[in-house]
Amino acid sequence: MLEVTGLTARYGRAQILNGVSLDLKGHEVVALLGRNGAGKTTTMKCIMGLLETKTGEIRYDGQSLMKLPPHMICRAGLGYVPEERRIFPDLTVEENLEVGQRPAREDAPEWSREHLFELFPNLAERRSNLGKQLSGGEQQMLTIARTLMGNPKAVLLDEPSEGIAPVIVEQMARVIAELKSEGLSVLLSEQNLHFARAVSDRAIIIEKGAVVYEGGFDELDANPEISQQYLAV
Ligand SMILES: Nc1ncnc2c1ncn2[C@@H]1O[C@H](COP(=O)(O)OP(=O)(O)O)[C@@H](O)[C@H]1O
Ligand SMILES: [Mg+2]
Repeated sequence: MLEVTGLTARYGRAQILNGVSLDLKGHEVVALLGRNGAGKTTTMKCIMGLLETKTGEIRYDGQSLMKLPPHMICRAGLGYVPEERRIFPDLTVEENLEVGQRPAREDAPEWSREHLFELFPNLAERRSNLGKQLSGGEQQMLTIARTLMGNPKAVLLDEPSEGIAPVIVEQMARVIAELKSEGLSVLLSEQNLHFARAVSDRAIIIEKGAVVYEGGFDELDANPEISQQYLAV
C-alpha cells in the first residue's frame, strides 16, 4: 500500500537519507526503529511531502507521492502525527477535533467525535478544557485523535511514547491495537523497543539514513547484538 524505494534526502548539503526502502501493507503496524538522529523523522517528513530535497520513489495506492504537496498527501489517505505535539492551545478539546475534520473516505473507517471519546476516555473527560490545560500525554492523545478526524487510511506516528507517563503509554498501545482492528495501517517511529514490540507486527531499523534490519521481533530477540548495535537498549 505504501512503498518507499531508494529514498534519499538532504538538509542543505547534509545528506541524511541514503536510500531508504520500506513498505507498509494494509492492516499492518510497522515499527520504524533507530537511534536518535538515524533519520526516522526525516523519512516521515519525506513521505508527507514536508521535505522537497529528496530523490527515489514513494508510492501510495499506486500513485507517486514524490511531487505532491502535503495537503494532497493527506487527501490521498495518509495521516501524520509529528513528534512535536501540534494542538491549538486556545481551543477546547472538542474544537481541536473539529479543526481536524475531513470528509470520510470509502476505503477507511469514519471517525466521529463520540467514537474518539470512547477510544480516548481522558479526552472525553476534558472535552471542554483548553488544549493548553492538558498534560503532555493528553496533548499527544489529542494530536492523534485530531489526525483520526481526517479519516485517514494509514497513519504515521512519530515517537508517540516519547516523554509521556507510563499509564498514557499503556493507553497508547491500546489505541494502536484498536486502529489496526478498525482496518488502519500504522507506521510508528520509536526508540522504545519494548513499546514497539508490544504494538507492532514487524520492525525496520534504520541507522545513518539506511535500513539495516527488517524482520520480526522474535528474530530481534534471538539476535540481541542487532539491538545492541543499532538501538539504545
Ligand atoms: N532541519 C534540519 N536541518 C539540518 N539537519 C537536520 C534537520 N533535521 C534533522 N537533521 C539531521 O538529520 C539527521 C536525522 O534526523 P532525524 O530524521 O530527526 O532523526 P530521528 O528522527 O531518527 O531522530 C540528524 O543527524 C539530524 O541532526
Ligand atoms: Mg525523530
